[in-house]
Amino acid sequence: MSETTFRKILVTSALPYANGEIHLGHLLEYIQTDIWVRFQKMMGHECHYVCADDAHGTAIMLKADELGISPEELIKGVSENHQADFRDFSIGFSQYHSTHSSENQVISADIYNKLNKAGYIKTRTISQAFDPEKQMFLPDRFITGVCPKCDAREQYGDNCEVCGATYAPTELKNAKSAISGATPINKDSKHYFFDLPQFEAQLKEWTNAGHLQDEISNKLSEWFEQGLQQWDISRDAPYFGFQIPGIKDKYFYVWLDAPIGYMASFKKLCDEQDIDFDEYFNKDSKTELYHFIGKDIVYFHALFWPAMLMGADYRTPNAIFAHGFLTVNGEKMSKSRGTFIQARTYLKTLNPECLRYYYACKLSAKIDDIDLNLEDFKQRVNSDLVGKVVNIASRSAGFIVKKFDKTLSARVIEQDLYDEFVTCGERIAKYYETCNYNQAMREIMKLADKANRYIDTHKPWQMIKVQNQTVQVHEVTSLAINLFRVLMTYLNPVLPVMAQQVAKFLNLEVLDWHNLKHPLTKHKINKFKPLMSRIEKDQINQLIEKSKHSTQTNSKATQEDNTIQINDFAKIDLRVAKIVKAQNVKGADKLVQLTLDVGEQETKNVFAGIKAHYNPQDLEGRLTVMVANLAPRKMKFGLSEGMVLAASDGKSLHILSPDSGASPGMKIS
Ligand code: 2FM
Ligand code: ZN
Repeated sequence: MSETTFRKILVTSALPYANGEIHLGHLLEYIQTDIWVRFQKMMGHECHYVCADDAHGTAIMLKADELGISPEELIKGVSENHQADFRDFSIGFSQYHSTHSSENQVISADIYNKLNKAGYIKTRTISQAFDPEKQMFLPDRFITGVCPKCDAREQYGDNCEVCGATYAPTELKNAKSAISGATPINKDSKHYFFDLPQFEAQLKEWTNAGHLQDEISNKLSEWFEQGLQQWDISRDAPYFGFQIPGIKDKYFYVWLDAPIGYMASFKKLCDEQDIDFDEYFNKDSKTELYHFIGKDIVYFHALFWPAMLMGADYRTPNAIFAHGFLTVNGEKMSKSRGTFIQARTYLKTLNPECLRYYYACKLSAKIDDIDLNLEDFKQRVNSDLVGKVVNIASRSAGFIVKKFDKTLSARVIEQDLYDEFVTCGERIAKYYETCNYNQAMREIMKLADKANRYIDTHKPWQMIKVQNQTVQVHEVTSLAINLFRVLMTYLNPVLPVMAQQVAKFLNLEVLDWHNLKHPLTKHKINKFKPLMSRIEKDQINQLIEKSKHSTQTNSKATQEDNTIQINDFAKIDLRVAKIVKAQNVKGADKLVQLTLDVGEQETKNVFAGIKAHYNPQDLEGRLTVMVANLAPRKMKFGLSEGMVLAASDGKSLHILSPDSGASPGMKIS
């Protein structure tokens, strides 16, 4: 490996929100980044890796509210869980902080003041949905109603999940606040905007200067064509975040102080370890700055963030590495399928290094989505790591330990083969450097195949039976151990725990890339201990089953019981309904089709699984209770628009009725 010049590098991963668990989707990015950082350190560079919890915003404020605790309590508990998950997956942050920190408050205020002074902050009054009961402005995600295009109920304020339409929250029919259930009103408020269009020329130059992947640059060209817009960076009280300096009841939007959180986390590290912060963020910095992110947050990182840095007179990033989304078994992660897998659920079932390896096999510098196919995962780990890599050591170490006093031979029997393994390191290093881990893993496995073939050809287990071939057995198995050392050194960024165990076995401090040119000769090793066991089908099944039942167990704040809050109950629209028509459904032996009068001359069609218990005619004319806002369900026989409530012990079934005097359409509360 040729020596390169010493580099000083700062690396970040996107900051996870402080209101949920880390899952395998998040881990794709942290593992990708961690591999890159470990590789840079192995190359001998100074490389700092910082991250933090993204702790601000309406969602976190409301979640804390819901749990009856302060946002500070919520984010503390979540941070502890996040850090435990990261530690157990060997994500080696130099610093893990929070955006709700004094460092972040100081730097955010400073950047804002600089931008303001330079004329990049503008104000104007805008009108927004406001919850009159909760007395707060409502983000789009907190407004629900009927889709203006397809009439689907319970759609969010910005887009319809049924027909895909996008619209303004004001266009929703029968809009309701998802927090209180109240009907939102429109209210004016003065907002603060970051004047992004002023940076258009600079940004165009920056985005075309090799800092971004090609697919991302192309996306940016589209955005430039559409025209840049001023960015709303303020939110009104109540809000969990930092107050805009000197402006009462106005807060920074969470996305303003989130990327500044990268700087803040690094600042904490600098203060703790006496690193020169300015050297990394000065405009003319010679150090390097890289952000690893998901492709969904490119707009923030490739436009807003560099523009903020430019406007506040800081350096801009060297590169942004975006990755695609994770699918599991070819589909979006799903709780009901058991493929929404939390980090902690995985850790209770499987070895974290298996996932690190599998992700490495899949990750490239492209932004295509990545599929974790659980069957392929099992096979790949078993075949590559257990069947190829570990196998080299497990079939050679016994000879060295038992027959040759734990000492490797004095010479390398096939120097050419050894040199070929070492030379290949240059190519593997390039693949790591350019984030093409999939190609690095392919190269390493090709070498592992070669090492196994070498052992197969020489068959030390046969040679040992022949008297005058003892020296040869010693040399062949010593070479195999040396080849194993090379491979495990290349895998060190991906499998740091196993690499450490191998270092111990080889009686080395660490597995060092630059030392590979010197093979281990006349070197004492230790007894070999099994390094990794095969993944069994049963473990995968367990993982899926556990994931179906896992709950949000984040923070001590999480409720231990199954209670719901009054707001949850308020979301259910329970109404008295009159069964005006009841009939059998052709081809369905369990269903009765009900036409329900729900008041105000509205009727609803409901298919109810009650045929075994009722004669349809006997039901006509009676009152019952229904859930009126259940999302409509398409069934083979037609659309079912609600649910009739019934009591059952599993054998008998009894439809509920209101007391006398009730009439269709009455709300039940
Ligand atoms: O999308 C997200 O999950 C954000 N919390 C990422 C923030 S990254 C950075 F800008 F802070
Ligand atoms: Zn729709």
